[in-house]
This record gives sequence, structure tokens and C-alpha cells, in this order.
Amino acid sequence: MCGITGYISKTNDANTVAINCLKNLEYRGYDSSGIAIFNENKIKLYKSTGKIANLCEKIKDIDTTSKIAIAHTRWATHGKPTETNAHPHRCKNITLVHNGIIENYIELKEFLQKNGYTFNTQTDTEVACAYIAYVYNDLNIKDKLKCINEACKNLKGSYAFGIIFDDEPETLYATRKDSPLIVGYGDNGNFISSDITAIIKYTNKYVILNDYYISKITCDKVENYDENLNLVNLEIKTSDLTYNENTKNGYSHYMLKEIHEEPTVIANLYKRYLDKDIATIDLKKFDKIHIVACGSAMHAGLIGKYLFETYARIETTVEIASEYRYKNPIITDKTLVIIISQSGETADTLAALRLANNVGAYTLAIVNQENSSIAREAKKCLYTYAGPEIAVATTKGYTSQVAVLSIIMINSLKNNNLKDTILKETATIENVLEKTIDMLPEYKNIANKIYEKNDIFFIGRGIDYALCMEGSLKLKEISYIHSEAYAAGELKHGTISLIENGTPVIAIATDETLFEKTVSNVKETKARGAYTIFITTKSLADNTDVDDFSDVKLILNDMSKINITHVVALALQLISFETAKLKNCDIDKPKNLAKSVTVE
Ligand code: AGP
Repeated sequence: MCGITGYISKTNDANTVAINCLKNLEYRGYDSSGIAIFNENKIKLYKSTGKIANLCEKIKDIDTTSKIAIAHTRWATHGKPTETNAHPHRCKNITLVHNGIIENYIELKEFLQKNGYTFNTQTDTEVACAYIAYVYNDLNIKDKLKCINEACKNLKGSYAFGIIFDDEPETLYATRKDSPLIVGYGDNGNFISSDITAIIKYTNKYVILNDYYISKITCDKVENYDENLNLVNLEIKTSDLTYNENTKNGYSHYMLKEIHEEPTVIANLYKRYLDKDIATIDLKKFDKIHIVACGSAMHAGLIGKYLFETYARIETTVEIASEYRYKNPIITDKTLVIIISQSGETADTLAALRLANNVGAYTLAIVNQENSSIAREAKKCLYTYAGPEIAVATTKGYTSQVAVLSIIMINSLKNNNLKDTILKETATIENVLEKTIDMLPEYKNIANKIYEKNDIFFIGRGIDYALCMEGSLKLKEISYIHSEAYAAGELKHGTISLIENGTPVIAIATDETLFEKTVSNVKETKARGAYTIFITTKSLADNTDVDDFSDVKLILNDMSKINITHVVALALQLISFETAKLKNCDIDKPKNLAKSVTVE
């Protein structure tokens, strides 16, 4: 995802500091970078594709001393990763950097073109910049706070902006909506950044801007304004982190930060493992697979079961580790035992691994924490490389486990259409998942409908049922609302008796072969008063009158049967997150839960 930073200095070192801050945003994943400075009485832009080192190389012999700088790492969403498309972008007397997606950029672009504006890039950001320039110059709203406030009212989507006006080159403006943005208070100047890691080297004092707030920042003063342009006193937080430590990176919660990392984590896993020997297991050597784990890791295993049985045609059972370790399981040397664990230290899962090792099974661990017990004791370990997961409720831990299982299955296939589809999708998956995250208003809408409920049902069939299992658990563990996942076809065999007027039923239907069946099950609940929330994909919704049986519909981006699991999982995680937020729950540290259950 993109990262922005900016600095306004009491001395002429803004360029150097901004580049140093930019380097600490690299973890976010990017394909180009750039910086804007004010030098020789004008704004100058320098950009480069590839690593920030390329940008540094480009400017190393240039006088870039400046009191002000804004800089950006770009991960292409609109337009190829080229220098032209890299940020900062400039239009007339406005220069800006942006993190987020402007959803209505096409209609704005057409409007601006009709008003004489021309464009050099394919980006939504250039349109946003031009629109602010339009408000400032054509509508002649010269009060910069009013100009930004007015312009942003017509931007749809997500944004965090760092903005410099030519006629006020010693003031940095910043505003946001949905994309994270903080303002840092330094001794020698003040900062903006997508996250605290970028600036922790210089200051640990910062404020988190609320959506629509605007900051007016000079080298020795910061003024923060609310959406009505009232001057507000935001609490100046003091980060207890030292340079290079884990941090929420400006997000309200670790869970939200970790959700936002998922697109990059999954895309990187594909790059690391797809079609690579290290993640290629000769499944023909085995006549059955046991997938053993707890909680969400076990739910990831349920998706693995579906994939191995459907595509690799190998019998697979998913076992709860605390049951498996005591059931004297039937294991032979032709049994592949896959052990899944984010922490690598879960007591029951570790015990199951040791049992499988003792009876001579081939044990493969899928683990996030490097050098953990399970990682070390399994015969082979494939790390999920999700990075530290601080929130107790797993998000990237779970989806990265699903990704590794998917890749093991795909790598076992000889060349075929599915493999080609997946190979093609890897180029776009990060972008699709980013867009899924950006559907935040829809998740908030669903959260508003369910947060006061006491019992919620998730129903689905096939791989959608497996997704329901994790969606239900995520909701329970962070919002404390009771929910239950049910195979959609099973509900009428008893539990449908619990459906009454207003009972929320969240239905997941992404598998076209089972779609109509699930729709029928949804209608059965609706006929009994259920409040139905229907989650499907665009291609399936286009051919169905979803409104006929849904009180709320969530139409997700289409992806292959393998990758749609990540799209749905992200949506369910954000619905749970927004629900828990409405209930003021301690999302990162839900009551009674530990991050790693290292006791039986
Ligand atoms: C936390 O959100 C999970 N719901 C929890 O069930 C977890 O998946 C389970 O405790 C297993 O943890 P592990 O992956 O570290 O082994």
C-alpha cells in the first residue's frame, strides 16, 4: 500500500529528513517513490520507479535543500508503476501526495477536462490534485482550509493528503478520510506520515487526525481543525516505541493495521512460494492428509480441505488439535499431517505435532512465528511471513495460512487452467484486496445493523461454509456477540427454529455451483422473519435480483475460487472490527483471550 510523509523544518534539511522517513515506509510495499521540495523559489518534484535507493541516486548530486518536503511510496492502483504516475502530483499551484483510492476520479476528471484541465497521468491522485487546484483557482476559495474542506467534500473513496500551496511554501497542509495519517511534533520541525514508524526516529509525539480533519503545519506550530474548521485540541500521544519497534503505524488498532497489511502479505506469499520447489509437496506420496490446528488456524484448514479434496483429489480431514491428541488417530507413513499455527506455540497443536512425529508421519508446519516450537519440531516448515501479529484476533495470520495451503495445492497441479488463472491473478490480487478494504462504508453499514443484536447466524455452502466458520468466530471474539456458523442446507434440520423476526442471517454465496441452493436457504430464513445480509460477488449478483431476498447486500470483487476466500475473509474481518468498535470493545485485547494458548 502507499505511504506518505512530509516535514516542515526550522532549517534546510527537510529533504534529507523526508527521505529518511520515507525509507521507514518501505515495509508497506511499493513500486515507485518521489519527493517534492521548495528550492530556488519554486516547487521541484523528483520521482523514480523501483526502490527509494533509485530516487536517492537520482537526487544525490542535486541541491535539494529545502525547508519543506512531501514524499511518497506508491503502490500502483490507477495507472502503471511509472515515474509519471509516481507521486507527488502537481497541478497549477498545488502539489500533493496521497494514500488511498479516489473512487469518483473518472467523473471528476471529465468535469475538470470540461473546465480546461489536462492530465499527464492515469492516476486518481492527479485528479484529486487538480480538483483542489480547481477549487483554489477557479472557485477562488483562497482560504486554504476552506479550499481543502470544500474540495474533499466532493471526493469519494479514501485519502490521506499532504499538500503544499505554491504561495505558502512554508506551510504543510494535511487531511484524511479512511486512510491513516498522523501529525508528528518534532524539536526542529513537524511531520506528517501514514504511520509512526516513519517518524519515530525523530519524534515520539504525534496526533492521529480524525476523518475530515485538516492540519495546518509550520516548522514551529501545528493547528488542527475539525470538519467544520473549528480549531481543536487533539490529544498529543507519546509513542512508547523506540525506533524500529512494532507499532500501530497510525492505525487506531493493531487489528486494523494488520488487516491493512493483508494485501501485501498475500501478494508477497504468492511471489515467494507459487511455482517454487520449496512449497511443492509431492501429494502423490500420500493417501490422506490430516490438517490439525485450533481456532482460526483450524478454520484455515477447512479451506485447505476443500482445496485438496476438490483439486488434488486427496482425502483430507481437519482435526481440532485438542481432540486429535487424545483420539489415538489412525496415522500411517502415507499420512501427511499438516500442522497450522500462527504462534507456533499453541499447546494442543504442539502436542498433536509430537504425536504425529512419534508415529512416523510426515509433518508439515505452516507457521508465522519463525523459530517457534512447532516450526522447529515439524519435519518441514513453510513460514507465512505475515510479520508480527499483535492483535489477539488473528487476521493476516489466518489469510496467510489459507494462502500457503492454496499454494501447496496449486503447486501440486500439473499445468492446467486453474494454475494459469491463479498465476494471472497474482499480478492484481494486492490491488483487488486493497479495493476490498476500501469498501469500508459498506462494512460500517452492516455493523450498524447488527451491533445491538444478541444472536447472529452465518450460513454458506462448501468453501463459503468454511468462511462462515471464521467469520462467526471473528465476530464473537472481538464484539462478544453470540453467533453461529451453519452449513446453509443444514439450518432447516433444527436450528431454523431459532429464526424469528429480525434475527440477522449473514449468508455467503460465492460459489456459482451452489449459489441457487444458498439463495433458497436464505429465502427460507427470510420467510421466517430473518434480517438477511447477503454477501456475494459482482458476477453472481449481476444475474440475480439480490434485493428480492436481501435486506442488505454486499457485492464483492470477483476472483477465482481460490482467491475469493481472501476477499470474503477481509470483508468479514472488517465487519467484525466495525461492529466491535460500535460496542467500544477492547478490540486488540478481547476479554479472556490470549494471543497464544500455550496451556491445555
Ligand atoms: C484468534 O483470533 C484465533 N481465533 C485463535 O482461535 C487462534 O487461531 C488459535 O488460538 C490458534 O492459535 P495459533 O494459530 O497461534 O496456533
